[in-house]
Amino acid sequence: MADSVGVGLLGLGVVGGGVARTLREKAETIARRVGREVELRGVLVRDPARERELPGLRVTTDPAAVLEDPSVQIVVEVMGGDQPAHQYIRRAIAAGKHVVTANKEVMAKHGPEIVAAAARRGVDVAYEASVGGGIPVIGPFKLDLLANDISQVTAIINGTTNYIITRMSQAGLDFESALREAQEAGYAEADPRNDVEGIDAAYKLAILATLAFHARVHPDDVHREGITTLEPSDFRYARELGYVVKLLAIAKVIEGGLELRVHPAFVPEHSMLANVDGVFNAVQVEGDLVGRILLYGRGAGAGPTSSAVVADVIDLAQRIEAGSVRPVVAYDGRLRPRSMADTRCRYYLRLVAADRPGVIARVAGLLGEREISLASVLQKEDIQVSEGDRYAEIVFMTHRAHEAAVQTALDEIRRLAVVARIGSVIRVED
Ligand code: NAP
Ligand code: HSE
Repeated sequence: MADSVGVGLLGLGVVGGGVARTLREKAETIARRVGREVELRGVLVRDPARERELPGLRVTTDPAAVLEDPSVQIVVEVMGGDQPAHQYIRRAIAAGKHVVTANKEVMAKHGPEIVAAAARRGVDVAYEASVGGGIPVIGPFKLDLLANDISQVTAIINGTTNYIITRMSQAGLDFESALREAQEAGYAEADPRNDVEGIDAAYKLAILATLAFHARVHPDDVHREGITTLEPSDFRYARELGYVVKLLAIAKVIEGGLELRVHPAFVPEHSMLANVDGVFNAVQVEGDLVGRILLYGRGAGAGPTSSAVVADVIDLAQRIEAGSVRPVVAYDGRLRPRSMADTRCRYYLRLVAADRPGVIARVAGLLGEREISLASVLQKEDIQVSEGDRYAEIVFMTHRAHEAAVQTALDEIRRLAVVARIGSVIRVED
């Protein structure tokens, strides 16, 4: 066998630990697939005193010891966060090393610039693990779907929130307990706000939309809402109305522009996406030639994420062996992000209001003035808001309406003295 391919690892946490273990335990298989041995040469960590599960690794706190090691040809970045990860990736490229990363924040914010810098230096950047954990998602967009004009991507791409929502909906757990379970399983980001506020999903949607629509999509172009305001009653009403609540990431072509949004949504209970539970992710793609496809699997965790990272390492090592580098993804900039205010969909509105004659008529009147037509109304009596008063929880389902009109009507409804509060506003994706 020829000289081995040298790998440097930046980070030895949930994913880095899984990658190091896989490179060690599957060393023979990997060598057979590549035609050379693939050897882990050095590992960058923050805390050298921390006890590690894997003995015998060359651990360092000096980034140069990995980034500028001449025996390292592939740098695997699994530290997370924007900086210093972004800077280290650029240093690795400048030193002529191929890069594999699981970092959706860096790829969403700086992906096109990184890929272009790599192409100029004659190296490649692989990031399959940045979206969908172990599900092949980036590969299909880069290659298998290239002949299609894609009209829509609808995805459940955050394992932590899908896990939390599933546990709240099916086991009646409260939010905090479900989040703790997701953290213990290693699904959650270092700062779980990234997951529960939809930030992680917005990063991933920006990466997918950039690839699917050959557009430059930045995370700031994505309208974003998280799951922290969902209440147990939303899950009950969803069921009663024939829906399931999911945190959806949606990118679709509308009137020559791109609608980009991450938010909780009602999805029909028998749809494919409604049945994606727990840590599982799914990416549904609509292409003009392929029709509708669903990419489905485990979206987080050490095993699935290592599967994607190590596959990228093997692919790069094979291409080092063969002496070929893949070209850069082309952006044509034809499709530009649209404003959220122009979105049209159906809405579920849950509010708590005084249980008195004429209250539903007043709310419906304000909606009607904004051309928002009602599809159905549900009322549950006796919600305790304050001593003495009788309150009811009222749920409105609308027909398709304009986002801007709905937001204006909600401001007016909020100001009505008979309305104690607006509980939830959830878009319905039929
Ligand atoms: P993690 O468990 O928090 O591990 C991070 C690792 O990076 C730790 O080993 C840490 O060192 C090291 N590190 C962080 N900052 C550093 C710095 N400034 N200098 C040197 N080392 C540093 O994170 P993770 O869950 O493995 O996630 C890693 C990346 O994979 C993130 O981009 C994440 O979004 C992505 N990802 C994660 C999953 C998942 O299921 N967890 C799935 C897909 C993608 P110490 O060990 O010394 O603290
Ligand atoms: N925190 C992320 C999730 C990890 O829960 O999906 C996978 O990217």
